[in-house]
Amino acid sequence: MTVLYKANLVRGAEWATFFAERAPDMPFRLWPDVGDPTEVRYLVAWVPPDDIAATFPNLELVFSVGAGVDQFDITKLPLHVPLVRMLDPGITETMVEYVTMAVLALHRDLLHFIVQQKQQVWREIRITPARRRRVGVMGLGQLGQTVLERLKAFGFPLSGWNRSPREIEGVTCYAGADALPKFLAQSDILVCLLPLTDETRGILNADLFARLPRGAALVNVGRGPHLIEADFLAALDSGALSGAVLDVTDPEPLPAGHPFWSHPRILLTPHNASMTSPDSGVDFVLEIIARHRRGEALPGLVDRTRGY
Ligand code: GLV
Repeated sequence: MTVLYKANLVRGAEWATFFAERAPDMPFRLWPDVGDPTEVRYLVAWVPPDDIAATFPNLELVFSVGAGVDQFDITKLPLHVPLVRMLDPGITETMVEYVTMAVLALHRDLLHFIVQQKQQVWREIRITPARRRRVGVMGLGQLGQTVLERLKAFGFPLSGWNRSPREIEGVTCYAGADALPKFLAQSDILVCLLPLTDETRGILNADLFARLPRGAALVNVGRGPHLIEADFLAALDSGALSGAVLDVTDPEPLPAGHPFWSHPRILLTPHNASMTSPDSGVDFVLEIIARHRRGEALPGLVDRTRGY
């Protein structure tokens, strides 16, 4: 009945402590100390090991330690082994903080002030009221919905775009590819919180930037490969985009000398927007294991045909 954890080892040590407290009968091991691989029933991983199926023949459940699962090659997971995304409140809370910070930074011209400070320039910028700054969120899963709920307090006109229809009070929701241009045309600050799938890879491209109001700003907290770099840099150069906050790049870490490092219109963070909390992450994993044993539906279960 072993649970095997394969991700950040510092946080892994915290996972081990919480597991020992809350499920003392369930052996918990930190990769690469796998013990007897036939004992491993549950795998919690960021980047999964190769050959999962052959290495761990008795695997019953696989968890992504993060909200995203694009790092998993689902075709390598046997069909009877469910893959579950982390629906951890810790991820949601930290993501809400980050997106709020990024939206407010762009709304309040922080990128300009960072440049001005370096140049010792004291120059005010006219403040745009929040009610005139339209914020659009792409991806209305747990993260996108909570981000929108919490942005309401600032008074931004809010909209959301999703593959399938959603309803969120106080938010204009758009669904599907046909509705995308309309959504984009009224997003002064665009937040990408999409999962990375074949459909969304490269979605932040020249065509999309051209459909935004001129001078719009971008927050990418999805995945690096959502963004076509050359299109993005051209949009910043032409003024189609006025600035961006990026937490994800392709590849990661971003190589030395890459233009994003020093671009004055880009605020960059090292894939640090949100993080699974070991405390609530352990609770989530134990809850899912219990549900799985009872044969119940699993929140966070990845749909193999959709890829998230
Ligand atoms: C991080 O990017 C995650 O998927 O949780």
